[in-house]
Amino acid sequence: MKVTPWDVSGEIDYNKLVKDFGATLIDEKIKKRLKTPLLKRGNYFSHRDFDKWLEAYDKKKIISVITGRGPSEKMHLGHLIPFLAAKSLQEEFNCKVFIPISDDEKFFVKEDLNFNKVLEYSKENILDIIALGFKVNETFIFEDFIYTDIYKYAAQIAKRITYSTAKATFGLKTENNIGWSFYPAIQIAHILFPQFYLGKHISVVPVGIDQDPFIKLARDIATHKDFKLEKPAALHAKFIPSLFGNIKMSSSGEGVIFLTDSPSEVKRKINKYAFSGGQSTIKEHRKKGGNPDIDISFQYLKIFFEQDDKRLEKIYYNYKNGTLLSGELKIILIEKINAFLAEHQKNREEAKRSIDKFIIKNSIR
Ligand code: TRP
Repeated sequence: MKVTPWDVSGEIDYNKLVKDFGATLIDEKIKKRLKTPLLKRGNYFSHRDFDKWLEAYDKKKIISVITGRGPSEKMHLGHLIPFLAAKSLQEEFNCKVFIPISDDEKFFVKEDLNFNKVLEYSKENILDIIALGFKVNETFIFEDFIYTDIYKYAAQIAKRITYSTAKATFGLKTENNIGWSFYPAIQIAHILFPQFYLGKHISVVPVGIDQDPFIKLARDIATHKDFKLEKPAALHAKFIPSLFGNIKMSSSGEGVIFLTDSPSEVKRKINKYAFSGGQSTIKEHRKKGGNPDIDISFQYLKIFFEQDDKRLEKIYYNYKNGTLLSGELKIILIEKINAFLAEHQKNREEAKRSIDKFIIKNSIR
């Protein structure tokens, strides 16, 4: 298996990753503190110092959440995982959320993504993020190419990272353009930004486990004598499988549900592609039952769409014992996704009017 911020491949062994990275599995004690199914059903599986973040909340200290988006394309369901987590943390713990948009990262890393296109994706992606329902005045969004204030923090951080650390941590290759080698200073500035902005406090980063190298380095740098900041905490998510069942939703188009997909596209993609854990004939399915643990439709209900634990459990057992057929399970999922997207697409239109309230502006000097 290979897991770096810019390259995920092979069979992922999450327990081994947690060990290798030196993170901690999310335990029952932590789960008890959380209400949101997304954070409790195993998709978020590991953390750094999240217990300390909860403790700071209990002591009524300032806490915040920060997670970002690399705008390489229009957004699909898999991209929502960190933002849905951030939003639920904002609601449950009443805290500020910071959302940097790394247009520079994707510009450097994606060979054929041109400058204007990346700016366009940023704008589109920001609307999708706002549409999730973040609170005005409590949510701060910025784009690296626009909010150039970030540069002064990145420069101070860059000075404290040697090239050999960057190379080893991020797997930089000699043929990569030099944008790749500076970018980590920017993302570390993102991760520490809540503290630059609000003063020293503990912030948590909900994000895919592949982004952990940035967090680890940000934690080392936080306590450097130049900064004297709190080490940021982290919540790590597993990768969301594509409809085909592959580990990471990569946007070949057909294997993912875009937030702009129409009801008929959703229906077609799920029926045609969603990997089924069912048997090949109805007769066999009734006899042997299906396997919800490998069934993509069930997995999507579990991760995103069925918030009610009892109903999810019922679907699980009915599928497993053969009462619920694969086609019927798909119908449940299609209806859920389409209801979500209808609401999302409406909220996205409204976000066009409120976007200015979420964007942080550069300082004058
Ligand atoms: N690099 C992240 C990605 O490709 C996006 C990102 C930018 C980010 N800044 C961040 C994630 C800060 C977490 C924290 O998805």
